[in-house]
Amino acid sequence: MSTNKKIAIVGGDGIGPEVTREAARLLEMLKERRGLPIELWELDLGADRYLRDGTTFPKETSDRIRTECAAVLLGAMGDPRVPGLEHARDILFGMRFGYDLYANIRPIKVLADRLVPLKDRLAKDVDFVVFRENTEGVYVNFGGQFKKGTPDEIGINEDVNTRKGVERIIRAAFAWAKAKGKKRVCMADKSNAMSLAHELWLRTFKEIAKEHPELETRHVYVDALCLYMIQDPTQFDVIVTNNLFGDIVTDLGAALQGGLGMAASANVHASDPTRVAMFEPVHGSAPPLAGKDLANPFAAFLTTGMLLTHLGFDGYEAIIERAIVAALDARACTRDVGGELGTKAAASWVIERIASELTA
Ligand code: NAD
Ligand code: IPM
Ligand code: MN
Repeated sequence: MSTNKKIAIVGGDGIGPEVTREAARLLEMLKERRGLPIELWELDLGADRYLRDGTTFPKETSDRIRTECAAVLLGAMGDPRVPGLEHARDILFGMRFGYDLYANIRPIKVLADRLVPLKDRLAKDVDFVVFRENTEGVYVNFGGQFKKGTPDEIGINEDVNTRKGVERIIRAAFAWAKAKGKKRVCMADKSNAMSLAHELWLRTFKEIAKEHPELETRHVYVDALCLYMIQDPTQFDVIVTNNLFGDIVTDLGAALQGGLGMAASANVHASDPTRVAMFEPVHGSAPPLAGKDLANPFAAFLTTGMLLTHLGFDGYEAIIERAIVAALDARACTRDVGGELGTKAAASWVIERIASELTA
């Protein structure tokens, strides 16, 4: 039997396949040069397949990923030809919920001073990580529509928060802070308005905070968090929050990083890292950029770095990051981050840089 770790590659829609193809090329190069024991398995999932045969995320594929793969590298889902985005939800949530990947880890880190959009701030001033709850909240699709299409219609999505779900993501954030030698953990909710669901968050956070007297803990309301992230991002190390707020604040965080082309993420079952995990850039399918060789591949590369660390291949995440720092310095990058290269050329620059570093 092969001892290779199997990585499912799911390009998806829009720019997803373009950036994922480059990330797969990076992985193949590392396999070839360094003998990384990995095996890539490309999967046809996304809008094209759905429009072709009505299939979104077949159970057989989902089961095979769960049992055979160590990780999934996903591009993005979302295609204007599927306005209801049902395939995107089936696939993305099929993995996040189906594999119980409750921690969506999104680092907010900047790789060049010139990418920081804040006056008088440098890259070193923006370095924190968001732990987004990934299996509950308003994403579970509890609710309904009533009297649709009439003046009296109703639309409801319930906000589902369980003690287990809230506790495990908060614990994951604390565990990460301790493992990385970080001192501050901040929880953001909206318990002033959502006094039922978010009181659970606040109480749970306070209880767990008591177990970690060595860490500085802080509670903020999510609206104020948005203010503080822009006013002074140096005040954060680890932020933990719910599914919806985590989605929103990480796009805000991406703006601090130089845009969505630079933002990486991991979806993991934090208390059992042997389970299959899913890695995807924070960005979407960016339909206006699709097929034009304009998409920034670096978010997908940084995501690949997170994947390699998760699989136990130490050192590669830092190597990838360093090569991207060099590319940004040399302006060997796409337009969104101040260069003039296309997706493929920017990716090639970084891949060649890493290859020569590994040979040297
Ligand atoms: P988006 O992330 O696709 O784009 C937002 C902005 O960021 C656009 O200006 C886009 O040009 C820019 N951008 C994104 N990725 C970039 C990259 N790699 N390089 C350069 N610029 C980049 O978000 P959207 O426009 O709100 O959504 C488009 C579609 O993607 C929707 O269907 C949405 O549901 C879906 N989406 C999917 C995921 C995912 O699969 N994880 C994430 C977000 C959005
Ligand atoms: C993300 C995306 C998804 C989310 C969408 C496509 C459902 O915005 O991964 O950030 O909200 O989780
Ligand atoms: Mn998002």
